[in-house]
Amino acid sequence: MTDISHIQDFLYCETPQAWVDDALNNIDLLLIDHANCEKKAASTAMNLMYRYVDNHDLLNKMSRLAREELRHFEQVMALMKKRGVDYPHIEAAHYAGQLRKPIRTSEPHRLVDILIVGAVIEARSCERFAKIAPFLDDDLQKFYLSLLKSEARHYQDYLKLAQKAAGIDISDRVDVFLSLEKTIIETESDEFRFHSGPLKKC
Ligand SMILES: [Fe+2]
Ligand SMILES: [Fe+2]
Repeated sequence: MTDISHIQDFLYCETPQAWVDDALNNIDLLLIDHANCEKKAASTAMNLMYRYVDNHDLLNKMSRLAREELRHFEQVMALMKKRGVDYPHIEAAHYAGQLRKPIRTSEPHRLVDILIVGAVIEARSCERFAKIAPFLDDDLQKFYLSLLKSEARHYQDYLKLAQKAAGIDISDRVDVFLSLEKTIIETESDEFRFHSGPLKKC
């Protein structure tokens, strides 16, 4: 298994076991939302490519990332088809929207913050794939473990781009987003999603 200890150390909390239990009770929903997350990851990367056309490093890294996310999307869809899981429209989790709230509006701060949020989301996704993998059937486990390497690289690419765009130490900003992320991940959610907190107990 790919070593993701640097990602577990980066994040401020581990995925709660209660979320894993919820996921195991909602495997179809996990796959549907996972498919949406991959699609969204590709479009976020492409949005950056449209906005920051003068940043060669960003263009290259985001182009590769978008291709990989779309490939993951195809892989999730294939697994859904194999398992007879339909693909209905579902609302996105509140996670990304909440995480984006502290993004500053003036440049280059805006870019730096968007890239940090990208790093945090990639890191959490990677941590969740690794956390749930041991509990999954062989097929799904193999697929989730195969994603660790690319998602870990995406996290690093985002963080390096953020550091480069800032030109100064970004640890204060990283702390802002990681602290918020910990709160979101540990707060109970009404609906299960790939990036939700544990479900509220009735
Ligand atoms: Fe992905
Ligand atoms: Fe990714």
